[in-house]
Amino acid sequence: MDKELVIVLDFGGQYNQLVARRVRECNVYCEIYSYRTDIEKLKSMKPKGIILTGGPNSCYEADSPTYQRELFELGIPILGLCYGAQLMMHVLGGKVEKAPVREYGKTEVLTDSASPLFTGVSENTICWMSHFDYISKPAPGFQVVAHTADCPVAAAQNLESQLFAIQFHPEVLHTQEGTKMLYNFVRNICGCAGTWRMDSFVEQSIQEIREKVGDGKVLCALSGGVDSSVAAVMLSKAIGNQLTCVFVDHGLLRKNEGDEVEAVFGPDGPYELNFIRVNAQERYYNKLAGVSEPEQKRKIIGEEFIRVFEEEAKKIGAVDFLVQGTIYPDVVESGLGGESAVIKSHHNVGGLPDCVDFKEIIEPLRNLFKDEVRKAGLEMGIPENLVFRQPFPGPGLGIRIIGEVTADKVRIVQDADAIYREEIANAGLDKTIGQYFAALTNMRSVGVMGDERTYDYAVALRAVNTVDFMTAESAEIPFEVLQRVMSRIINEVRGVNRVFYDLTSKPPGTIEFE
Ligand code: XMP
Repeated sequence: MDKELVIVLDFGGQYNQLVARRVRECNVYCEIYSYRTDIEKLKSMKPKGIILTGGPNSCYEADSPTYQRELFELGIPILGLCYGAQLMMHVLGGKVEKAPVREYGKTEVLTDSASPLFTGVSENTICWMSHFDYISKPAPGFQVVAHTADCPVAAAQNLESQLFAIQFHPEVLHTQEGTKMLYNFVRNICGCAGTWRMDSFVEQSIQEIREKVGDGKVLCALSGGVDSSVAAVMLSKAIGNQLTCVFVDHGLLRKNEGDEVEAVFGPDGPYELNFIRVNAQERYYNKLAGVSEPEQKRKIIGEEFIRVFEEEAKKIGAVDFLVQGTIYPDVVESGLGGESAVIKSHHNVGGLPDCVDFKEIIEPLRNLFKDEVRKAGLEMGIPENLVFRQPFPGPGLGIRIIGEVTADKVRIVQDADAIYREEIANAGLDKTIGQYFAALTNMRSVGVMGDERTYDYAVALRAVNTVDFMTAESAEIPFEVLQRVMSRIINEVRGVNRVFYDLTSKPPGTIEFE
């Protein structure tokens, strides 16, 4: 694809993906690469600009991540953020040292509006600072264009060399005018026209898929989640019923979810494709009987998925392409882009390739962030309720039922969860909370209902707000909403006599229960 590219050079900062997302919000395409990337490779990509991210190190220490001076002499505009800013100064002859006062949090910054970085930005603006080190002396040729009470060089520039350094984090939402600063850099300073748009991406991708697939056969494992749904629709628009989607109902989906997926992708839905629904509920429950160890449950669910899929794939015979709903954060987190540690091997369709006879993988969403996947979905006319679906783990309710999974426990958690979701939506909170669901604790306790003693299960309600799912805070839900949910669950769901609300943050908790 012929596109304007900005490179985000990753020095291990926790906000690297956020930097890239913000740049894309300015309609400029960017990709994340590790700071270890060879300069020749960087040059060959012909970037319009380069952004150096933050990172946890001190740039003056011997084994800290660095980059050769030549980078700053390429004539390509470069913006250094936090560690990236310090590194730029250090390499070019400025001075970076431990700050006498550590700045952390929202900080008032005074900017020089004559700097092209700060066009349209208030002279007095709130920014997010997080640093131990500071630039005590800018490199020769640099002019200071922002400062705070404790930080004499909050931003510096060398206009002639098109080099810019910002000590704070414009990518973080707490920096109130941060997006404007990044916009100024990529659109005005780098001169990107802003050609990265979802409508043209979708159109172009469909065209490319058509050319690549020719009259080949394509197979897709459809989970009903956002990524695989958007990928499937894109493929269906490109090649119609040369595409076969296999949807495995493992009996661990949310209430009515299997039917909802079938309504969209099945023969009565709007899309042209071959849809195969495998009702494997009993098979899963049999395999899971008597198993209570979380990792073992996950393993069984994952392996069984592969077995079921394999059987279906055998019936279909050899295919030319297999579709995967990999998205950009999967690529970055698998250590393939950027500098982030391998957090998880991406689990979209883990292990699938081995069991299917195919020639090549198609990953139409490989370069997109989640919000871009959603935009692409809307662009193609996928219903909003599907596009904005909450994340749902591959092992499904299997990891929201503590201990052994049984059909009856699945019924309890499905019904409780459906009530919870309905009441959250009724209260108008469904778009504001990151992720929320009901889980079934393995605890039974004594209660009284009518005049009867009960000995039933406790349901736990979970709701978290999170930016990246790596950390999360429990969401504040009005007490009357929680009470309504509690009362409905106890009245309507047989087998439950107690409801808890989980207040645990992540860390130390996780979002799911197992
Ligand atoms: P945890 O529980 O690790 O969850 O705090 C973080 C996010 O990841 C989702 N999650 C999974 N998604 N397969 C998935 O596709 C899994 O095995 C899995 N485990 C957790 C979880 O729903 C949350 O959004």
